[in-house]
Amino acid sequence: MRRSLYKTGKYSAILLALLAWPGGAFAGDRSGDSAAGAADIHSFARPAEAVVTHLDLDIEVDFQKKQIAGKARWRIQNPAGAARLYLDTRDLAIERATLGEEEKETGFFPGNSVKFLGQPLEIEIHPETEVVTVYYHTRPGAAALQWLEPGQTVGGKHPFLFTQSQAILARTWIPCQDSPGIRITYTARVKTDPALLAVMSAQNTPAKNPAGIYTFVMNQPIPSYLLALAVGDLEYRALGPRSGIFAEPPVVEKAAYEFADAEKMIAAAERLYGPYRWEQYDVLVLPPSFPFGGMENPRLTFATPTVLAGDRSLVALIAHELAHSWSGNLVTNAAWNDFWLNEGFTTYFENRIMEELYGEETAEMLAYLGYQDLLKTFRKLGENSPDTHLFLNLVGRDPDAGMSDVAYEKGALFLRMLEKNFGRGKWDVFLKSYFDQHAFKSMTTAGFLTYLREKLTGNDAALESRLQIDAWVYGPGLPDNCPIPNPAAFEQVQAQAAAWLAGTPASALQTGNWGTPHWLEFISRLPQPMSPEQMAELDAAFGFTASGNSEILCAWLVRGISNGYEPAYPALENFLKTIGRRKFLRPLYQELAKTPQGLQRAREIYTVARANYHPIAVKSIDEILNFSVASN
Ligand code: BES
Ligand code: ZN
Repeated sequence: MRRSLYKTGKYSAILLALLAWPGGAFAGDRSGDSAAGAADIHSFARPAEAVVTHLDLDIEVDFQKKQIAGKARWRIQNPAGAARLYLDTRDLAIERATLGEEEKETGFFPGNSVKFLGQPLEIEIHPETEVVTVYYHTRPGAAALQWLEPGQTVGGKHPFLFTQSQAILARTWIPCQDSPGIRITYTARVKTDPALLAVMSAQNTPAKNPAGIYTFVMNQPIPSYLLALAVGDLEYRALGPRSGIFAEPPVVEKAAYEFADAEKMIAAAERLYGPYRWEQYDVLVLPPSFPFGGMENPRLTFATPTVLAGDRSLVALIAHELAHSWSGNLVTNAAWNDFWLNEGFTTYFENRIMEELYGEETAEMLAYLGYQDLLKTFRKLGENSPDTHLFLNLVGRDPDAGMSDVAYEKGALFLRMLEKNFGRGKWDVFLKSYFDQHAFKSMTTAGFLTYLREKLTGNDAALESRLQIDAWVYGPGLPDNCPIPNPAAFEQVQAQAAAWLAGTPASALQTGNWGTPHWLEFISRLPQPMSPEQMAELDAAFGFTASGNSEILCAWLVRGISNGYEPAYPALENFLKTIGRRKFLRPLYQELAKTPQGLQRAREIYTVARANYHPIAVKSIDEILNFSVASN
């Protein structure tokens, strides 16, 4: 019998530490947060004993079997002379393990499975072991993988595979030390169908290979959640000297138009916070089932096609994923309870990039919309919920469950507050040096606060109490020094919404100079409920149901559902059956689920659509609709 790490390992040590914690104002939330380096409760790895430093991955992607099979060769450091290397796995079939270049068989022991976390894999090593090779294959349910049939792609002719490793899903396709506090360099050799192109979060050759063999190199050390692979009928188009687009052929042109400002964004980001350290910045436009808006895989952002609005109005997403090249990929949250260090910094930085490119007013509108989303999230979670803290308590939870707008929007507001206090000049110097000093390292929440106090706040007690740093980080809601975004342009939007309510026909409203943010604000200002006639009047004037802008359409469809506006239902059904972006699916299904007829409708649509969604989205929507495969 193998020991269960859950019972005897560090996982329980953390539980004990939590139980023993003395309490106090915000104290219960600080467990595991120490500048010295917090333990990662979501990994079985024991990096203090033996830690991986480099991966040589050699795999075959088999679309028939829906399987990745091959070997992961790890270079390790074992200064303590440990007798075991601990890796994370979940739903992986481990075939054998060997030591050294000479590949001497060695013992390996899969441990007990723990909810959300998968299984530890213990491998017997020696004090002098430098190389450990694991032979394995993935299982059909691997949560990081989505295998698309040709019919689920835009081109319709070839299958497609993509991975999504964040937060703790890399372990479902590679046996690894799956903790954001552990960094590795990697190379990979990927063999697949020669009709397809394979790309990774690494140096890519952007052309098909007649043998279907692709090789990759990532020389900068990255955490496992940034390991990424996609295989499909992809074409490349350069945008600038160090940026470009990968997409299915029918989408390349549109994507190249949409993301034409990528090079300018890189330049703006560099002016703000220092050199771009990843050489190349490409964007891979995925098929519509991609469950996220974007994923900051290094050198190769993965992006949803739902941002291809045709008018470049949703490119904040590119600013966001690009910003992660500093906040997240360069300086990385040490564990998932520090998630706000990734997303809050990135949301703040995204807004700064948008301001550089498109001006203060646009940036302020976007910040305001984010702030409104945050207020909605607060209402949903409850104002005093611990999940409204920046520093999260994820003990015993799937990290995905604690991740919300709070890390993004409250995190960004916290940094905005600091910026306003210290002034941009001083603040930007601080951030630049923060990225520089901690490049290619991980950062804890406490580590950041220490650095902040060292470099900016000093020992000034009056300043400390004005900033309310601890209340921001370890407390609920928004402290009273929160700087609320206040775009002047929205006054006009609010005035037009009020005028319509007071009787001005929709067609007579002054909306001539409005862009996407104005429309989103307008829709959010509409009264609830509205009659079908009111909905129809707006629709006739502004064409919302037929909008090609996914953000506007989704916001409108939510109103369509809550007001029982039948003319929007065909568009709703089409949207739910073709798009797998969770941010859109969730509010739509949630709104449908509020009435018995809506729930019925939702279940009918979902029964068909479910097969098109990524495992990550399926999990979320199953929960909303209380759906299990047996119930369909
Ligand atoms: N890193 C996130 C996506 C993510 C977070 C994946 C947590 C898995 C777990 C990415 O950078 C992101 O934030 N994407 C947003 C878009 C962005 C513009 C706010 C998304 O997908 O909605
Ligand atoms: Zn992000």
